[in-house]
Amino acid sequence: MTPRCLPLYLRIFALIIASYPFIGLAQTEFRYIDDQYGDSVSGAIPTYEPSGGWADGSTCTGCAIRPDAKQAFLGSWHDSTYDASDKHLRTVQFNFTGTSLDVFCIIPNLSNNTVTTTYNLTFNLDDQTLLQTFEHESDYTNRFLYNYSVLSLSSLASVHHTFTMLMATGVNSSNTLQFDYARYT
Ligand SMILES: *[C@@H]1O[C@H](CO)[C@@H](O)[C@H](O)[C@H]1NC(C)=O
Ligand SMILES: *[C@@H]1O[C@H](CO)[C@@H](O)[C@H](O)[C@H]1NC(C)=O
Ligand SMILES: *[C@@H]1O[C@H](CO)[C@@H](O)[C@H](O)[C@H]1NC(C)=O
Ligand SMILES: *[C@@H]1O[C@H](CO)[C@@H](O)[C@H](O)[C@H]1NC(C)=O
Ligand SMILES: *[C@@H]1O[C@H](CO)[C@@H](O)[C@H](O)[C@H]1NC(C)=O
Ligand SMILES: *[C@@H]1O[C@H](CO)[C@@H](O)[C@H](O)[C@H]1NC(C)=O
Repeated sequence: MTPRCLPLYLRIFALIIASYPFIGLAQTEFRYIDDQYGDSVSGAIPTYEPSGGWADGSTCTGCAIRPDAKQAFLGSWHDSTYDASDKHLRTVQFNFTGTSLDVFCIIPNLSNNTVTTTYNLTFNLDDQTLLQTFEHESDYTNRFLYNYSVLSLSSLASVHHTFTMLMATGVNSSNTLQFDYARYT
């Protein structure tokens, strides 16, 4: 039986069913948490610890890592570098309610080997340390990687989550972070 032979009400029903995948797609709305301007829905701004350990990357004059602000999400990022003489754990924290999360950073591949370019991140969700980690060493090509996902989580429970990104600490763990934004659904 072709759809033409169906009674009108069944044809309308079939049309509604056929359009469902598109309705489903339209509902997958991305939300963003910018490092500086915060959550695109709630406006909540991430917290950075210790507060003196972070710089607003786009206006920082003392920062050795200088990406192109035009390529950063909303033109901003937060910059921090831990060195072995430092005793303070450096963290970024934000909350979101959703089922997936992607965290984007700007990755430096500087050729200047006097600058700390190593990334060494661990992650914590709702007081649980995640198995995923992120490490990166410069390949000295002098090219930044923008919109680089350092963590991707899916199939989370749709509840209020507290997410913390932690920079490595320790004697031989000098490392840096240029946090740009996060995206969740
Ligand atoms: C390498 O970085 C250091 C520290 O920021 C800076 O003093 C030096 O001029 C840089 N060298 C080059 C070749 O860019
Ligand atoms: C990164 O992604 C944002 C948002 O998706 C976009 O506006 C921006 O142009 C992208 N930047 C680069 C360098 O790809
Ligand atoms: C996240 O939510 C918790 C309570 O669930 C609160 O203690 C914490 O301060 C919040 N963090 C941020 C960055 O808003
Ligand atoms: C990252 O940090 C851990 C713990 O401090 C350390 O064992 C590891 O060697 C570090 N990785 C890099 C690439 O520095
Ligand atoms: C920069 O580092 C990343 C990760 O190791 C690598 O994939 C990329 O090719 C490097 N260089 C450039 C120019 O993108
Ligand atoms: C740090 O690195 C130095 C030189 O590679 C090494 O001798 C020392 O054992 C390392 N310390 C730790 C705690 O890993």
